[in-house]
Amino acid sequence: MQVIKQLSKMADFSLKLRRKGRKIGFVPTMGYLHKGHLSLIKQAKSKNDIVVVSIFVNPTQFGPKEDFKNYPRDFKKDKWLAAAFGVDVIFYPAVKNMYPAGYCTYVNVEELTEGLCGASRPGHFKGVATVVAKLFNIVQPDVAYFGQKDAQQAIVIKQMVKDLNMKVKIEALPTVREKDGLAMSSRNVYLSKSERKDALVLYYALNNAKALIKRGEKNSARIITAMRKMINAKKTARIDYVSMVDAGNLKDIETIKSKAIIVLAVKIGNTRLIDNMLVGV
Ligand code: PAJ
Repeated sequence: MQVIKQLSKMADFSLKLRRKGRKIGFVPTMGYLHKGHLSLIKQAKSKNDIVVVSIFVNPTQFGPKEDFKNYPRDFKKDKWLAAAFGVDVIFYPAVKNMYPAGYCTYVNVEELTEGLCGASRPGHFKGVATVVAKLFNIVQPDVAYFGQKDAQQAIVIKQMVKDLNMKVKIEALPTVREKDGLAMSSRNVYLSKSERKDALVLYYALNNAKALIKRGEKNSARIITAMRKMINAKKTARIDYVSMVDAGNLKDIETIKSKAIIVLAVKIGNTRLIDNMLVGV
């Protein structure tokens, strides 16, 4: 496995392989790899000739009061895990090379980024779309893999690829969870022992919603009220949003239909967690 830091070296590597007709699968990450990332890597490995994983904690997607500086990093462990899972290249660029002095171009996917996480994290998706566009241009993958855990992110990236005529195919894969149901996230390390217990309420609330729907409840306001009640019962929990939206365009829906997704963001103590579940009938 190679670690490539230079942007031009990464681009040359990909260009040579593509000229030989090799298929490149790409998994963009911010590192601190866990089983969620590894499921994307496994899929990339099984469907492509070459797997590139990027590790880049992207400053432009963090707000000024967010955790860019403290975001967990462990490159040594990531390198070991990536090698063990058969990754061919880790692309590990430096911030000063991705955003050199004078950098001033950004990708803004409108509408889809206005609600949900976009509302509480202004500029976040602009940073995500920009870095992913840059990574696609450098790595030149045939297929790129994203997690359904960040449902809005996956939809935004699909839209960007469509709107900007990028040639990469986007695959979104299911959320990987801890044994007890908590969605895997690099940010879970921030949780104290008691917060870790409380964090399960996201998963329980989603399952409760699913059970209500199974029993015939179709009204999203009633489902959301039940979820909010459950979450608010935890002292450490502060709801950012709980919404039932159309899985295609992220617009709120009043009555459940096919392709519905329940999305939520909740702060447990100081840690903001997100999760979602497809619930379409
Ligand atoms: P990061 O949070 O490191 O996640 C990298 C990829 O792993 C994303 O596509 C994310 O949806 C996926 N992922 C995270 N947790 C998962 C889980 N429990 N199950 C399945 N997939 C999971 O998302 C980012 O980084 C960044 O925004 C990035 C796209 C790299 C741009 O900087």
